[in-house]
Amino acid sequence: MKYEVKPLGYSYSEFEPLISEETIITHYDKLYRGYVASLNKVVSSINYDISANELLMSIQNYPIKRNDIIRYAGGVSNHELYFDSLTNKKTYPSKFLLDAIECSFGSFNQMIDYIITVTKSVFGSGYVFLVIEGEGLAVIKTINQNSPLIYGFYPLLAIDLWEHSYFLDYVNRRDEYVKSVIKLLNWDNANDLFIRYKREIRNGIL
Ligand SMILES: [Fe+2]
Repeated sequence: MKYEVKPLGYSYSEFEPLISEETIITHYDKLYRGYVASLNKVVSSINYDISANELLMSIQNYPIKRNDIIRYAGGVSNHELYFDSLTNKKTYPSKFLLDAIECSFGSFNQMIDYIITVTKSVFGSGYVFLVIEGEGLAVIKTINQNSPLIYGFYPLLAIDLWEHSYFLDYVNRRDEYVKSVIKLLNWDNANDLFIRYKREIRNGIL
């Protein structure tokens, strides 16, 4: 199986001035593409014919190459979700997702405050994700390219907190970058993922 680069759903300059064209070009064209190329190298030597997300969800089946799969399939999966988690359109959680948010966090605003709190606790390179955890939702952080999928969580939104995500625009002001990402979060994409994961969980596919 050859892993393909997932097209970016917008132009490189879509999020100016919050996230610069230069940052998106570097992040998508150089770093994300690099992860896809590296994953293809890993997979060509072991010939797994499944998607990056499926590799991560069944990581226990791959004792050899496990670290490479976590690093490169994680780098592909996390970046694809991160780029899909951004939009310039005004989007909102669906009633279905909002019910789950209110059940788990009390309110939408409380969840946003909690996401910001968790991002502040990330030391070094990592991500913060909104995920499905059992019957509810949770906000988790992971280090490096570790995907929530390897821990049994299903991610709906991703915030990339590696320095390459913000350094050109914000230098060391990571909190300002996080505030910008919060403004750009793509709730349409989260709604779609929530429905899809819930359906697959209900049908025993996951
Ligand atoms: Fe990144």
